[in-house]
Amino acid sequence: CGIVGILGRGAVAGSLVDALRRLEYRGYDSAGIATLEAGHLTRRRASGKLRNLELRLAQEPLGGAVGIGHTRWATHGKATENNAHPHASAKVAVVHNGIIENFRQLRDELRAKGHIFSSDTDSEVIAHLVTQGLNEGFAPVDAVAASLPRLKGAFAFAMIFEGEENLLVGASKGAPLAVGFGEGERSGEMFLGSDALALAPFTDTIAYLEDGDFVALTHEAASFKDAAGLPVERRRIKTPASAFLIDKGNHRHFMAKEIYEQPEVVGRTLAHYLDMSAGRVALPFDLPVDAARLSRLTICGCGTAYIAGLMAKYWFERFALLPVDVEIASEFRYRDPPLDAGGLTILVSQSGETADTLAALRCAKAKGQKVLSIVNVASSTMARESDVVAPTLAGPEIGVASTKAFTCQLAVFAALALAIGRARGAIDGETEARLVSDLMAIPGLMAQALKCESAVEALARDIAKVRDVLYLGRGTSYPLALEGALKLKEISYIHAEGYAAGELKHGPIALVDGDMPVIVIAPTDAVIEKTVSNMQEVAARGGRLILIGDEALSHDFAGEAAASIVMPNVAPDFAALIYAVPIQLIAYHTAVVMGKDADQPRNLAKSVTVE
Ligand code: G6P
Repeated sequence: CGIVGILGRGAVAGSLVDALRRLEYRGYDSAGIATLEAGHLTRRRASGKLRNLELRLAQEPLGGAVGIGHTRWATHGKATENNAHPHASAKVAVVHNGIIENFRQLRDELRAKGHIFSSDTDSEVIAHLVTQGLNEGFAPVDAVAASLPRLKGAFAFAMIFEGEENLLVGASKGAPLAVGFGEGERSGEMFLGSDALALAPFTDTIAYLEDGDFVALTHEAASFKDAAGLPVERRRIKTPASAFLIDKGNHRHFMAKEIYEQPEVVGRTLAHYLDMSAGRVALPFDLPVDAARLSRLTICGCGTAYIAGLMAKYWFERFALLPVDVEIASEFRYRDPPLDAGGLTILVSQSGETADTLAALRCAKAKGQKVLSIVNVASSTMARESDVVAPTLAGPEIGVASTKAFTCQLAVFAALALAIGRARGAIDGETEARLVSDLMAIPGLMAQALKCESAVEALARDIAKVRDVLYLGRGTSYPLALEGALKLKEISYIHAEGYAAGELKHGPIALVDGDMPVIVIAPTDAVIEKTVSNMQEVAARGGRLILIGDEALSHDFAGEAAASIVMPNVAPDFAALIYAVPIQLIAYHTAVVMGKDADQPRNLAKSVTVE
């Protein structure tokens, strides 16, 4: 979920909605704002995307110079208007990100004291708990201070109070919250936001709350208290987040635009890590460990970022002779994995805000690991908490299904694998120069790969009619098969699975029939003959074979394949970056044919900020 608060000089409803648009990556199940209109708490809420709230506000505008706003990814309670934030009592309104784990116990206790709850959410207890404090005679800020120790779980919230037009309160425990300070003509205005990006149109002077902090904002001052309730100062910094323009260009969806941007942004990312004229990798930072002495590497992420890590394992093993564990962040953090102090964990995350990956980062740090994060948002929480940040230079990614961030993550991983390989003496200068030259060819080859779009559109019309799809690949095409299946599921809602092609015979072959498309990712590489055997196994059973391969392969399979998507000839090691293009286009066009919202698929959020 995304939260925002503004203590302004004029009407704030429009600015709250503007900030929510930047926070929609955190969820879009419902949205709402609350302000003090003539001193009285007033709310407007709507289920569904932010657009619905905007329509509601157009009909019923909301005045007031202090307010809070929320965009929700549902956890407790359905995505109805009733469960939409802000939640309120007669005296307090709150917007909340995170989970209050002991909300049932608190709710029972507060009900017994006469509080009436009107939603199914965990968040509503915060409003009533603070209200109970007010009822007992506490001043607003003291009522918050008294309530905080009772809330279990990870959370950030922003709160306003009936009749208190010069007060905005925020608290943060395990979930990020930033204070923004208005300057110049906004002097005296104060802001709260889940990230610096949300506040970018208003101010670039930010102070982050530290774990357990809460802050009381008035036009005159920001008073921070730490977890022990003692007054503290939090450093103001200038944030690099810029108020970027959100623009689809000539494309129907952000996802299409982002797929098409890949040659450019992958090129830009590679240029950041390679010395192209010298034919070698030149990392723009020092590694936080001595790579030559590493005994293993841990890579952690969620969703597509996790899949980028799976791909990277092949490269670190091949080029750096380094054993790699690739971990799903939500499993890693609770498994209590034994890790060497002084070892290296790499976190991968487009947003740098995903709660599970952030917790994994903290877990690795607590075990004495050095942490390097590959993130696309330079001002993100993970970037701030890492020893070293390796940026992807993909630019803002708006489509919920990751595309250009994924291939940029792969570009960074490829460069890291070569740099670490060189430091470990696992590759010589000549090999490095050859591989760097292969990497430099990628943007051009991606541009060629995009030419398959019309063939993919025709294919998508067939895929749109089926219930299940199987993706197969070997080597780095195996993680790409997982990514193909994930993309298709995410945006078309067609069930899909990715498998290592060699595993076909150990189970999924039972599914092969004349209906289910079997999409085989088959670049010409060291294992192509093995992949071809698996394709024959599908063909022999009358399966519906769809081939993604080069000209020669599609020629060989002209008789057996139901369809072929032809790729340019590419060097094998990094073929996955090129073959990612048709994988993404298949999912995109299938969703479009089916009339689904490719940019904001149901139930998902771009970054899930609860665990
Ligand atoms: C969400 C998105 C996925 C994304 C994952 C990780 O679940 O729907 O597309 O891969 O989060 O996001 P991150 O920002 O950490 O890369």
